[in-house]
Amino acid sequence: MNEVLKALKERRSCRKFQPRQVTQEDLDAILEAGTYAPTGMNRQAPVIVAIQDPETIAEVSRLNAAVMGADTDPFYGAPTVLIVLANPEIRTWLHDGALVMGNLMNAAHAIGVGSCYIFRAKEVFETPEGKALLAKWGIPETYVGVGNCILGYPAEGGTRPASPRQENYIIRI
Ligand SMILES: Cc1cc2nc3c(=O)[nH]c(=O)nc-3n(C[C@H](O)[C@H](O)[C@H](O)COP(=O)(O)O)c2cc1C
Repeated sequence: MNEVLKALKERRSCRKFQPRQVTQEDLDAILEAGTYAPTGMNRQAPVIVAIQDPETIAEVSRLNAAVMGADTDPFYGAPTVLIVLANPEIRTWLHDGALVMGNLMNAAHAIGVGSCYIFRAKEVFETPEGKALLAKWGIPETYVGVGNCILGYPAEGGTRPASPRQENYIIRI
């Protein structure tokens, strides 16, 4: 099977990671793939924030958990977290951001890095603490969170097999 098609089919969400950090080379390759996602009218509405500093990851994790009213780690201890946000003044922002998320996860899988889409970025960056982080990172406070892409090398039992695809997923006319 074609390597790209195989990677697209075999990527699974990973929720258990080895403690070792994602290498610079792997991270750069994943980020670059993210930036080559298609965007509406090529306006490139999204930005990707790459975090490997454990303190910042812990802070964003806490804010994300708070949205759920939980005190667990929604990032499953991943050593790297990528946050995709987008400029909502560009009409296609959400679609653009979601496509970046897809590229990040598929690129990660293609080079042996585990990933998972973690929700609630929108709510996190609507909070005063989230807005303070945006200011610190030099991102306009109007930007909206699309998703968090957690990354790390998969640990034993970190992924589950794909569930069967829903019946009538494809409607051929
Ligand atoms: C928009 C979106 C939000 C998601 N949010 C979460 C999340 O907050 N936590 C989580 O553990 N997985 C999350 N996932 C991962 C899904 O649960 C996962 O993709 C789905 O169960 C299918 O599994 P697979 O990715 O291994 O094929 C999310 C996926 C998407 C696309």
